Amino acid sequence: MDETLIATINKLQDALAPLGGGSSSPVDLPQITVVGSQSSGKSSVLENIVGRDFLPRGTGIVTRRPLVLQLINRRAGHSNNDLININSTKENGEVSENNADEWGEFLHLPNKKFYNFEEIRNEIVRETDAKTGKNLGISPVPINLRIYSPHVLTLTLVDLPGLTKVPVGDQPKDIERQIRDMIMKFISKPNAIVLSVNAANTDLANSDGLKLAREVDPEGARTIGVLTKVDLMDEGTDVIDILAGRVIPLRFGYVPVINRGQKDIESNKTIREALKDERQFFENHPSYRAKAQFCGTPYLAKKLNGILLHHIKGTLPDIKMRIEHSLKKYQQELTLLGPEMAESPASIALSMITQFTKDYNGILDGESKELSSQEL
Ligand code: GDP
Ligand code: NA
Ligand code: MG
Repeated sequence: MDETLIATINKLQDALAPLGGGSSSPVDLPQITVVGSQSSGKSSVLENIVGRDFLPRGTGIVTRRPLVLQLINRRAGHSNNDLININSTKENGEVSENNADEWGEFLHLPNKKFYNFEEIRNEIVRETDAKTGKNLGISPVPINLRIYSPHVLTLTLVDLPGLTKVPVGDQPKDIERQIRDMIMKFISKPNAIVLSVNAANTDLANSDGLKLAREVDPEGARTIGVLTKVDLMDEGTDVIDILAGRVIPLRFGYVPVINRGQKDIESNKTIREALKDERQFFENHPSYRAKAQFCGTPYLAKKLNGILLHHIKGTLPDIKMRIEHSLKKYQQELTLLGPEMAESPASIALSMITQFTKDYNGILDGESKELSSQEL
């Protein structure tokens, strides 16, 4: 049923695409927004979830504009086993350099398709510098990137600059407040799922990201904790207390992960190798090996998927209402426009939405009522 639900949402998005989507779309799909301190590993986590190397990463303030990353499942009806599954890139977990069925498009460069993900990264860097100057300035103007692929779930991820206190370079004195405002703008949306990223070798109690998340989501109903850099912890220390909810409990808990370190980046370690090493680390570590299946990036992706489903189910009654509303509106408009409009995008969308509501009335009526978080 859950797979049907995701397929349904994908179909619905396809149906609504001719109407332009955006704020007029009746379906307000969730955005997963990363929040955390500078260099805590936010971009690395996102990249691992997508399964492709394409984000600028590194020490210092690398992400200096919001990146709104829309993943678009290009073929509705494609097996949904691979949703946001990082293992989905190819059977062996590796991706060929230029894959004809996966590409990126920037909003600021319409009609240019990027098949090479290295070029996507270069364009992000270039476009960041273009709006912020080279000297570490930040800008709240987002870069919008769409990635089309049969291996992703239609979903929006947002990468944000990290929280920082001390201005460097040409950064304004109130940089801390500027970044904070930028983050709040994204995570205060009710459809935002907050991915609170914290380095395991820093003190969780001082986590500014977690504090912001609690401000907008005091119940922790849409916040998930990620603990990065578990490999860099002092020998003999671990994150077991945090995972057990004894430090700052979150309803959806925390997932410990290991991303590629700076040295790995410099030596071009692949995501595939990194995932293999990550799994070995957790399986062989005395603190984690008993619970290794709840550690690592693949588990994080699965968990996010579950939270996403939970979230979609919660918003179904509202989606249904809004679809019915637009259905009426378009029917009236088309009647006024006459028969020559039969092939217009609005008309095509209308017939798709009509078909959609017919097919999925059961889901829209029933599923929305059972809001159990147990399956997570
Ligand atoms: P962001 O500023 O929060 O987006 O962080 P980045 O993803 O750019 O990562 C900052 C630095 O930390 C980079 O040099 C990464 O290689 C490194 N890093 C991120 N996660 C890990 C991790 O789990 N282990 C190790 N050893 N290094 C990491
Ligand atoms: Na960084
Ligand atoms: Mg970053």
